[in-house]
Amino acid sequence: MLQGKRILLVVAGGIAAYKSLELVRRLRERGAAVRAILTRSGAEFVTPLSLSALTEDKVYSELFDLTDEQEMGHIQLSRDADLLVVAPATADLLAKMAHGRADDLASTALLATDKPVLAAPAMNVRMWEHPATQANLETLKQRGILFTGPNEGAMACGEFGPGRMAEPAEILAAIETALAASSRLAGRRVLVTSGPTHEAIDPVRYIANRSSGKQGHAIARALAGLGAETHLVTGPVALPDPPGVSVTHVESAEEMLAACRALLPVEAAVCAAAVADWKVESRAGEKLKKDGSAAPALVLAPNPDILASLSEAGNQRPSLVVGFAAETQSLIENAKAKLARKGCDWILANDVAPASGTFGGEENEIHLVSAQGVEDWPRMSKEAVARRLAERIADHFEGGKAA
Ligand code: PMT
Repeated sequence: MLQGKRILLVVAGGIAAYKSLELVRRLRERGAAVRAILTRSGAEFVTPLSLSALTEDKVYSELFDLTDEQEMGHIQLSRDADLLVVAPATADLLAKMAHGRADDLASTALLATDKPVLAAPAMNVRMWEHPATQANLETLKQRGILFTGPNEGAMACGEFGPGRMAEPAEILAAIETALAASSRLAGRRVLVTSGPTHEAIDPVRYIANRSSGKQGHAIARALAGLGAETHLVTGPVALPDPPGVSVTHVESAEEMLAACRALLPVEAAVCAAAVADWKVESRAGEKLKKDGSAAPALVLAPNPDILASLSEAGNQRPSLVVGFAAETQSLIENAKAKLARKGCDWILANDVAPASGTFGGEENEIHLVSAQGVEDWPRMSKEAVARRLAERIADHFEGGKAA
C-alpha cells in the first residue's frame, strides 16, 4: 500500500519529534520514500544526522540555502511528494499554516504545495485548547488539511489532557487512509465550468452576472485533490488558477462551449458556471456613442446551453453530468424541471436570492436533485460543498452510493 509512495515529512519543534524517527523507520519498512524538512526548533529535539540516516537522504532545513535552492527548490520538494506529513505539528506551525505565512522552509513548502497535507498536532494541553489554536485548526480543516490526534494523556510538561502526538502506528494508518483517499479518482478525466460569462455589447461593454467562481474553482480543487485529471473552463474571475488543474480562460458562453467540447471525452462534467442565457445579437463593432440620440436598444439572442449540450453529446457524453440550478424562488420545483429539461444526471440546487449570500459568498446550501430524489445538505463552506461533491462523484464511479 505504501510501496513507492513519496512522503515529505516536516518535523517541527516538540518533544514528540523523537516519535517521528520511529515513523520514518516504519514508513521505510513499508517501501515508502521519505524526505524530511527539519525546522530550526525541530533540530533542538532530533538531529539532522539521525533523520538523514533513517531517510537515507539529506535533510532539508534552510529556505535560503543556495545549494538546496539550486538542487531542490522548495516548490520541487512538495511537487515530488504524494503526501506532506507534519509531525509533530506545533501550535506555531499550525498558526503559520492557517495564516499563510512562509518565513522558513517548512512553512514555505506547506504554503506552496497542492498535495494533501496530514498534520499530527503535539503541544501543551492549554495551547491546544486555546481559542486561537482551535480557530486555526478550524480554518485548516475547512481548507482540507487532514489531522490525526492529538491523544489525551500525561504530557512531558507534567499536565494531563489532549495534546500528545498520535503514536507512529496511528499516524501510519492515517497516512494510508489519506493516500487511498487522494487517489480515489486517479486516472479519471473530469471537466468543471466556473465563473460568469461576459457577453459583449460593444468592444468595451458587456453583460455579466454576480458569479465569483468560488464554488466552481473549489470543485475543481476538490476533484484534483482526489487524484482526478481535472480541466477547468472558467469565465472571467478574480481568483488564482487552482494548483494541479489545467485551466482554460474564456469570456463568452460560446467560447465556453467550444472549450468544453474540445476537452471531451471526459468521464464526469460539473457545470458550476453561471452562463449567460442570452448574448447581444445587436453587438456593435465600435464603441457605442452617447451622441444625444436615444439610448440604444439591445437585441438579445439565446446562448447555447453547455450543460444540455454535454448531456446530449452522444458517444462523447460524460458518464456523469452534474449541473447546478441557481434559483430565487421555487428552488426544488425549478431544479427538478431543469434536471429533466437539460438531461443531466444530478442537479445541485442553490438559492441565489440576495439574502442567501450565495453569489460571491463563502458558503452555500445545496439540495442534490437526481432521479433518486432530493438530498438536503446543511449549509457549509463552498470548499466543504466541493469536497462532499467530489466524494459523491468518487462513490458513483466506485459503484457505491447512488445520489
Ligand atoms: O461563483 P460563485 O460566486 O461561487 O457562486 C456559485 C454559483 C451560484 C454561480 C453556483 O453555485 C451556481 O449555481 N452555478 C450555476 C449558475 C447558473 O447559471 O444556474 P442556472 O440555473 O441558470 O443554470 C442551470 C445549469 O445550466 C447550470 O449548471 C449552468 O452552468 C448551466 N447553463 C446555463 C445556461 C447556459 N447557457 N449554459 C449552461 O450550461
